[in-house]
Amino acid sequence: MKDIILGIETSCDETSAAVIYNQYEVANVIANQDVHKSYGGVVPELASRAHQQNIIPVVDKSLKEAGVSLKDIDGIAFTRGPGLLGSLLVGTSFAKGFSIARNIPIIAVNHLQGHVLSHFIKEPNNTYEPPSFPFITLLVSGGHTQIIRVNDYFDIEVLGNTIDDAAGEAFDKCAKVMGLPYPGGPLIDKMAAKGNPERFKFTRPAIADFDYSFSGLKTAFLYFLRDAVNKDPDFIAKNENDLAASLQQTIIDILMDKLYQAAKHSGIKDITLAGGVSANNGLRNAIRNMQNDGYRVFIPPFKYTTDNAAMIGIVGYFKYLKQEFAQIDTTPVARFTIDS
Ligand code: KG4
Ligand code: ZN
Repeated sequence: MKDIILGIETSCDETSAAVIYNQYEVANVIANQDVHKSYGGVVPELASRAHQQNIIPVVDKSLKEAGVSLKDIDGIAFTRGPGLLGSLLVGTSFAKGFSIARNIPIIAVNHLQGHVLSHFIKEPNNTYEPPSFPFITLLVSGGHTQIIRVNDYFDIEVLGNTIDDAAGEAFDKCAKVMGLPYPGGPLIDKMAAKGNPERFKFTRPAIADFDYSFSGLKTAFLYFLRDAVNKDPDFIAKNENDLAASLQQTIIDILMDKLYQAAKHSGIKDITLAGGVSANNGLRNAIRNMQNDGYRVFIPPFKYTTDNAAMIGIVGYFKYLKQEFAQIDTTPVARFTIDS
């Protein structure tokens, strides 16, 4: 048995295919969809169409990069959810067709488990050590913000959740208010590096337990800018770096406060970061600083932060070892919790 898994990710606006061989990533190809930029968010119908166009070339490229052919693949893992249903359907249907044509099993993967378990992807020439079970993960993406306790690969407990917007949504929606294109998170990150994070102060929510809320910040940011622009129409252009830095600092402070509380409460010392917002340099630094308080900190390489198929392939690989295969009538699901 060679254990070569083809991973497919099409849950939102990235079409990606990866080849995982014995836990190693040997190819990870991602096609981004620029079509959404001017709309201020992902347009589901356009995303599905772009996935249809991208899927075959992306898979083809990943096989070439890995130096394998169709007949070498032992199992095909695909994102079953959560995500946009029309987008998920493209990857799911591709996986089913491939499985029937090659007579190999299909493996259904929860996208969020992919983010969390991306820390276990091995790379040639990289001696990166994975976290030990149990560990705590701060999972921050465009659709989710959760504090998670990971007892084992597939034994996952949610300790805290956002009660409204996700952290990535807060970045993107506030960026939109500043007139920036979608996705605004990476742009805020770049501008924040040149700004003063103490210049403007924004609301921090008082939420119980280890839960989060970001909708109040979005509203406060919107009203603050509306009033400031009424007085000076050039306010945003004149202060964009300080606005970005202050907004980013507020989001990081909110995230870190609950993460520290959850880590302390659990007594667990291994802390990992996952999801698209884990590409944020300010957040990466804040988590790295937990080392000063005796925690072991695991920050993913940039290429595994935003959506990619290597993370789907690694979950597929672990399920393949357990012979946990999906039936051919498995359907994608838009809502799919990480602990289901
Ligand atoms: O995990 P992901 O690729 O897709 C989802 O599963 O949602 O996360 C995308 C989110 C977007 O909200 C995007 O703005 C945010 O991650 N993001 C960032 C950065 N890079 C991506 N947010 C802040 N700073 C970044 N550098
Ligand atoms: Zn994601």
